[in-house]
Amino acid sequence: MTAHVGHNLRRPEGPDKVTGRARYIADLDVPEAWVGGALRSPVAHGRLLSIERDPSFDFTQVVVVTSEDIPGDNVIALIEDDQPILCADEVRHVGEPLALVAAPDRPTLAAALAALTPRIEEREPLFDMEESKHVFKEIRFARGDVDTAFAQPAPGQRVIEGVYSTATQEQMYIEPQGCIAWPADAAQGGEVVVRGSLQCPYYVQKALCRALAIEPEKARVIQAETGGGFGGKEEYPSVVACHAALLARKAGRPVAVIYDRHEDLCVTPKRHPSRVRHRTLVESDGTLVAMDVDVLLDGGAYATLSSVVLSRGTIHAAGPYRCPNVRVRGRVVATHHVPYGAFRGFGAPQTCFAYERHMDRVARELGLNPVRLREHNMLRPGDLTATGQTLEHSVGSEEVMRRALARAGYDGATWRAPKQGRVRRGVGLSFFYHGAGFTGSGEDYLKGTVEIELCADATVLVKAASTEIGQGTKTMFLAIACDSLGASSADVRIADPDTGEVPDSGPTVASRTCMIVGGCVARACHELTERMAQATGTDAEVPFAERAQSFLAGGPSDAERRVRTTYSSPQGLRWSDDTYLGDAYPVYGWACDIAEVEVDLDTFDVEVLRFVTAVDVGRAIQPRLVEGQIEGGTLQAVGFAHLENVTLQAGRFEQDRMATCVIPTTLDTPPFEVELVEVPFPHGPFGAKGVGELPMDGGAPAIASAIEDATGLVLDRAPATPEALLDAWLAQHGAEAAAGGNA
Ligand code: MOS
Repeated sequence: MTAHVGHNLRRPEGPDKVTGRARYIADLDVPEAWVGGALRSPVAHGRLLSIERDPSFDFTQVVVVTSEDIPGDNVIALIEDDQPILCADEVRHVGEPLALVAAPDRPTLAAALAALTPRIEEREPLFDMEESKHVFKEIRFARGDVDTAFAQPAPGQRVIEGVYSTATQEQMYIEPQGCIAWPADAAQGGEVVVRGSLQCPYYVQKALCRALAIEPEKARVIQAETGGGFGGKEEYPSVVACHAALLARKAGRPVAVIYDRHEDLCVTPKRHPSRVRHRTLVESDGTLVAMDVDVLLDGGAYATLSSVVLSRGTIHAAGPYRCPNVRVRGRVVATHHVPYGAFRGFGAPQTCFAYERHMDRVARELGLNPVRLREHNMLRPGDLTATGQTLEHSVGSEEVMRRALARAGYDGATWRAPKQGRVRRGVGLSFFYHGAGFTGSGEDYLKGTVEIELCADATVLVKAASTEIGQGTKTMFLAIACDSLGASSADVRIADPDTGEVPDSGPTVASRTCMIVGGCVARACHELTERMAQATGTDAEVPFAERAQSFLAGGPSDAERRVRTTYSSPQGLRWSDDTYLGDAYPVYGWACDIAEVEVDLDTFDVEVLRFVTAVDVGRAIQPRLVEGQIEGGTLQAVGFAHLENVTLQAGRFEQDRMATCVIPTTLDTPPFEVELVEVPFPHGPFGAKGVGELPMDGGAPAIASAIEDATGLVLDRAPATPEALLDAWLAQHGAEAAAGGNA
């Protein structure tokens, strides 16, 4: 039997995607469906007094839904349940939905929305997160004794402080948000059906049940082919689905709510803006003695996933470094901005930018080589993380740095050496890690479940709620199932996520799909193999189809043809939600990025010339897809580093069209050199661990470090746009130097 793991397979959904046969939500032909849309608040804060209807418009041609039409609770069920489906009283952000309309066609929908006027008593909005007193979530943890260390520094020890910030970032998935809902139909068993572009079918089901006051069996959620998520389709599809379902219920027919790009950019959650303070006590050789870190995130108007974004951000905030005394405090607060939410990395890109820029500050102030400083402090096997986790398994820290340095031919010795000329080159490095799977006891609460079924045609159907969103879920499951069964790819099919057909393997988030759900697939396949061997006496040398047929010939029951496995954590993991100490994740992915940039001192344009990244993934189940994940995530980090600037004015995004909301294009994409490092994780399938988010974390600080090397400019804020570089230049050299030219 040829191996599938480690060998690139054809993507099951690939041919349909590249030939245009794949049907995304807007491609579905539902002739009887109406189109739905939302009336939205033009202001950031106020009280909704009424919604007035223009008497000259004939409202009998459309259906209008307000908060009074919600049979269940007026909340988008998620974590805090603070976000209404439709505003009933207090308006908290620009674009907040106030009412919904469904119409037979788009012109009538637009006319109906224009004939509705919200009367809002405006109130003073709060936009500055530093001033917010409304804390969604606060997290504190500490190890050692930070106060004593700072109060009684030993001779030669120094305090180094820095403040770092990052702007928001738009996911810019290829396909905007969209769902189609079918109302409960007695003939169809009274089931509400929603198809949508989404990451987490069971999250949407939960939200529908709460909104419609129905049981889970009466809400069926089916993932349509999905054009990218990046976290942006983690929580928001619940909003779209609830809107579509409420309209369908009142209209008595299917309703499609499909955003255009402008609406999507205006109202959907983006990456949390951040401000992180570091105060660090170091020896003169760079040894870390104490770290005090304070993280602040802008959560926007509603809590969404902010508490867990903060959790991941704070847990990673001290970086992959050894330090005996650590204290981390984090808060995410409310403002009257559009709610922020999940985006690949989930808080870690923000805190990684801060700790890696801070490591550069330590190197700069102590006159140390930034590479040697990181090597000196890096976590190695047996070391303790900031939360007091002993790193026992799969610690690729030294290996990723060694491989990245060798590939790039770099050693840090020339960092910040003075450069001449109008166009200057520089090199920068970042070193980082990212926990895979849900935090702490999350996976044990979640109990992700997978089922495999040996079908009558002797093929195996893998059933999981994990979604294919472009990253390669189906191909990865296929490889794991084939090699766990000793089967060929023709023997295995991967079911489409549909809550009516597949068990809840958990959301497709948190770098968990391969390691956690893929692990369940492997276990289920091993159990089926074992069952078949016991029943038929055949061993794994016999081709799978023969083994399966002889098993089926014995007339197994339905229960015997099916295997369900539920995830359980590796033995011995310890975590406390009270102290936030212990084993925060089952394992970590490790990476080292080296960026080479060119900066034009006339235009302050930055070009990334070369990007080397070495990433420890445990085991590359599908090497080409893993490299694709790494290149894609790194490119998003390149955008975060110097191109993507999303700003707000009076609570409104200023870049609300693709013409202005800039992301990297092919021309902005450096040649990527990916070094796959495989330090196997014993509890992962074939040694694999998570890789989805990790590549998003280190690009921005590596590029900021390279810009510093090229120009001597110290950048503590991302993105490093030309305007930001000019400001930094003026601050460092004064206006005369800029006016006098830089040659
Ligand atoms: Mo995510 S950002 O864990 O989809």
